Amino acid sequence: IDIKSLRGATGGVITIDPGYKNTGSCESAITFLDGEKGILRYRGYSIEDLAEKADFLEVAYLLIFGELPSSEQLAKFHKDIKAQSIVDDDIKKIIDAFPKSAHPMGVLASLTNALTAFNPSSVNVDSEEEMYHAIVKILGKFPVLVAWTMRKKQGLPLDYGDSSLGYVENVLKMMFKKPHEDYTLNPIVVNALDKLLILHGDHEQNCSTSTVRIVGSSHAGLFASLAAGISALWGPLHGGANQAVLEMLEGIRQDGGDTKKYMAKAKDKSDPFRLMGFGHRVYKNFDPRATIIKTAADEVLADLGVEDPILDIAKGLEKEALEDPYFVDRKLYPNVDFYSGIIYRAMGIPTEMFTVMFALGRLPGWISQWREMRLRKEPIGRPRQVYTGENHREFKNISDR
Ligand code: ACO
Repeated sequence: IDIKSLRGATGGVITIDPGYKNTGSCESAITFLDGEKGILRYRGYSIEDLAEKADFLEVAYLLIFGELPSSEQLAKFHKDIKAQSIVDDDIKKIIDAFPKSAHPMGVLASLTNALTAFNPSSVNVDSEEEMYHAIVKILGKFPVLVAWTMRKKQGLPLDYGDSSLGYVENVLKMMFKKPHEDYTLNPIVVNALDKLLILHGDHEQNCSTSTVRIVGSSHAGLFASLAAGISALWGPLHGGANQAVLEMLEGIRQDGGDTKKYMAKAKDKSDPFRLMGFGHRVYKNFDPRATIIKTAADEVLADLGVEDPILDIAKGLEKEALEDPYFVDRKLYPNVDFYSGIIYRAMGIPTEMFTVMFALGRLPGWISQWREMRLRKEPIGRPRQVYTGENHREFKNISDR
């Protein structure tokens, strides 16, 4: 079918597909997933291989440019990113203006958009070279914004990173280094965060990615498109689920740890409660990322010697759900966010920062999707609708209403 002539051929017929459950918005060569079989691949490489054998920056390069980098390409990429890791000092004034209670996702979205003002050359980018420049800029500055967002909440000074470190090591140091104290990197924590970021790297046309593509399709700049994606990710039905999972588990613990009570609530259709971290729009058998992350969670907690009653509650819920006809019939399995929060918590990352960590991992995915959309010269995104409102009405003056 010639897609372009479809509208004319159908006489203007419009497809109504709430939630776009069956509607493709683009062709893409970045991420393949098969929800029935639980397969996820970036640029053809399995998520299992990438999580085990690659590091986050390599995966970022792969997602964005389509090939695994040679060591020279990776070194240049990292050097270019590091050269862009200074954020205008006025951004600190913006951070200071937020109330301490501000949610880090709102702060991060605002700061990402604010970067546009300080980097106007990143807005109107057309050539691959201009795109590359905007891409390394945001990859350099975003971890600084992530770290500053957390440090502001904790009342810590806003410092820059350590350019001698790897990308993920630097993120950790920027987040956790206390003034006048040395910060020693724990390889177990570095490895776990690297894995988590890789697992969140891309997930084809989910809510935030579609947002980035559709905002970018108006030729709004990369940073503005990413800021919109961050806002989309914030919601508890999407990336915000990792925070919601931990809050749910904590709530169950404080309520005496009765998992059966909460299973019953989740099944009760008159109760809006949902088991956070269960179910997925696409994975209807298992989420391959959840399998990898579950093992990583066990390893991290064992290595760090963390005994967390929350983990027992999580395992209890998982076991019960896997045996419960309600969950089995609806194919509701733990998703990636069910376990990520447990690892973040063990690392000492505050609950409100969990979705920010997701955004850091998803950044290369959003960038790659934006770049692909621009290189393919996709038209502006503009869905149709079926109008169900009033027919023509005569206007009544305010005195007659
Ligand atoms: N707990 C209880 N029941 C659920 C849950 C849940 N977590 N998820 C879905 N259901 C039920 C629905 O009530 C519905 O039941 P019904 O057929 O009797 O009406 C059925 O399962 C299908 O659910 P939908 O909402 O239609 O499925 P959809 O594909 O639209 O939603 C979603 C997927 C949003 C992830 C959903 O499962 C959910 O809300 N899960 C909890 C939030 C969550 O974990 N989100 C993270 C997603 S992963 C990510 O963004 C990285």
